[in-house]
Amino acid sequence: MISQKIAQLINSQIAKEQYAAQYYLSMSAWFYAKDLDGIANYFRVQSKEELMHADKMFDYLVDVGAEIVPGEIPQPPHQFADAKDIFEKALEHEKVVTQSIFHILKNANDEGDFATVSFLQWFVNEQVEEEANASQLVTKINMVSGNPSALYLFDQELGQRVFSPDTEN
Ligand code: FEO
Repeated sequence: MISQKIAQLINSQIAKEQYAAQYYLSMSAWFYAKDLDGIANYFRVQSKEELMHADKMFDYLVDVGAEIVPGEIPQPPHQFADAKDIFEKALEHEKVVTQSIFHILKNANDEGDFATVSFLQWFVNEQVEEEANASQLVTKINMVSGNPSALYLFDQELGQRVFSPDTEN
């Protein structure tokens, strides 16, 4: 039986994942406006992944019979200094999400709620991957900044990303 506290934390995390989806959509829009459609695509796919994360949590709350209370989703920033600023903010944001997942996990563990601990393991692994990807992209955008040919290739590379919910990444 899930406690009210853990259910509330997961409800709140659903809103945070939905906020992340909005935030990445905002980043995507910035790149579309700069005609960097490949990078825009990357963030658009990332946005869809965040909605998938929210869905997973929603399903879990349904499965354990918890009360589902939709949270408020603040408006994300939509103005950015440059491409580098966006990649850095994406990495920062993933770090915040990781800490938020850890907070729920710690509370679930303290309560002996091992079903939630087990459920959250997927997100722990996902966050390791997301932080690694975001960090690598910060390195890459630093490499290509100021070099239009390299930026063109980088844009092409990120344009290859497709959303595939079955692969769960
Ligand atoms: Fe849902 Fe990017 O973490």
